[in-house]
Amino acid sequence: MKTIMNNTLSISDVNKEVTLYGWISKKRNLGNLIFIDLRDRSGIIQLSFKSGSECYELANTVKNEYVLKVKGKVVERESKNPNLDTGDIEINVEELEVLNTSAELPFEISDNTTALEDTRLKYRYLDIRRNNVKNNLILKHKVMLAVRNYFDKKGFIEVETPILGKSTPEGARDYLVPSRVSKGKYYALPQSPQLFKQLLMIGGIEKYFQIARCFRDEDLRADRQPEFTQIDVEMSFVDENDVMSIGEEMMNYIFKETIGYDLGLPLQRMKYDDAIKYYGSDKPDLRFDMKINDITEILKNNNSDLFKNVISSNGVINALVVKNVADKYSRKELDKLTEFVKTYRANGLAYIKFNEEITGSVVKLLTEGEIKSLKENLNIENNDLLLIILGEYNIVKTSLGALRCKLGKDLNLYSNDVYKALWVVDFPSFEWSEEEGRFVACHHPFTAPKDEDIDKLLTDKAHCYSKAYDIVINGYEAGGGSIRIHNKEVQSKMFEALGLSMETAKEKFGYFLEAFEYGAPPHGGYACGLDRIVMLLSKTDNIRDVIAFPKTASASDLMSECPNVVDETQLKELHIKNE
Ligand code: AMO
Repeated sequence: MKTIMNNTLSISDVNKEVTLYGWISKKRNLGNLIFIDLRDRSGIIQLSFKSGSECYELANTVKNEYVLKVKGKVVERESKNPNLDTGDIEINVEELEVLNTSAELPFEISDNTTALEDTRLKYRYLDIRRNNVKNNLILKHKVMLAVRNYFDKKGFIEVETPILGKSTPEGARDYLVPSRVSKGKYYALPQSPQLFKQLLMIGGIEKYFQIARCFRDEDLRADRQPEFTQIDVEMSFVDENDVMSIGEEMMNYIFKETIGYDLGLPLQRMKYDDAIKYYGSDKPDLRFDMKINDITEILKNNNSDLFKNVISSNGVINALVVKNVADKYSRKELDKLTEFVKTYRANGLAYIKFNEEITGSVVKLLTEGEIKSLKENLNIENNDLLLIILGEYNIVKTSLGALRCKLGKDLNLYSNDVYKALWVVDFPSFEWSEEEGRFVACHHPFTAPKDEDIDKLLTDKAHCYSKAYDIVINGYEAGGGSIRIHNKEVQSKMFEALGLSMETAKEKFGYFLEAFEYGAPPHGGYACGLDRIVMLLSKTDNIRDVIAFPKTASASDLMSECPNVVDETQLKELHIKNE
């Protein structure tokens, strides 16, 4: 068995006889001397072969990515390499065994590879040899270890829940698995262990966690995979503050244990309505300021049709002050920003450049008094750029929120070494679904409403708030959860509010509702996206970088070519007709 990892050797090991195993990362032939960089999981060490030695001739024939076993002596290097952990030493090889050869690689194993992502995914096992992917997998392991240590210390136990189950109400499409034994019936893969963890509370487990695989058939984005992992948590006899305390302590523990970063507890809490109002997002990126300003009041008496029409139709006029860039944004650049906000359904983007001369698309429509008022109220200084969107509240907020994030990135308004975490709290219970033409659950149907809003569940859905919270880091939703309904009457009211008859609810979650007849404790919890946490820690914005064998945006695995067709006989057994 291999007992020494390359990186564990240092100058203090000089003169030791060692046996090393690994892959050839690089080979240089200097005539009477051959150098090989031997790579293993821990890193690289230099091997040297002197001409005349027995293994020199063999070393002459080996190529990149051949697998070697070498025996030799650790010696101090004449010319040291400060860029390598083992750069002070090398191995004078005395015995060389070639354990395997390698075919020509489809791409070079290098940190700065230019290979396309599709090629790297097709040969993912080679991609994993690169430091980038390998280090992310090691980091993920450390996160999982920290999670397990943290919860064990806090008296939680990890309980597994089924993968083959009944549909859970998380809102995405289910992946279905046909049953062979029960013709025409299907299992659903869990979108999360939501119902099971609540049943564990009814089962008296009190403090549960699980590093759980989840499956959602939804449109993929850079931070979404069809199968992903949650750090899933549930607790009995708790309120919102208790759950958020544990959640943030866990998150800080992970950050400290893995990258030595202190998020600074307690985390800031921001009401959902304020997050939308000031940041145009329920996941505000607080690494930079640049809040959204409401300038409706300042322009309420403006005489132009543009502003008058918006105000008379109950719309709003909002703006971002972008400091000290008025001279940087040409007409062309501003047109690009306009195109950008249009993808968020904004009608357009007006601008004012505050230089000696005040210029811009809407300057002519404003009175001197209004310009003065804008300057004073928004603390506008010379060379500031004011970007204005007007219209319906939600569209104005969402588009300016997205623009704010784009500008933050484009203008380097924050350091990539900073993490800003917060809780977004007091989510609405319901959100209006344009698609379905009705109010749907903002979180899920088991989320408890605020005590003071229970009476409004059936009469004023737009103003019902819930005991739900999200933990947001650098503009990513890292996790979320809620206090659950444990009272039967409130639960049936909630179903009614969602337009779900008790019969349909029973059909869907009958076993679950029945469990609440038998002494359900008050309980609540949360789940964090493990992959997203690793993305944040490793500073990548592509979730595939932190998953060993990820799926592409079209939910396929390029390496194994899955999904794929199956044998006719398999289909027959499952009572499925191939069309
Ligand atoms: P939610 O649906 O908000 O809550 O999911 C919790 C967290 O899981 C991560 N996440 C994802 N990560 C990668 N790819 C995906 N497709 C994906 N979908 C979600 C996010 C998210 O914040 N059962 C509830 C939690 C609870 O109430 O306790 C739930 O699943 O980081």
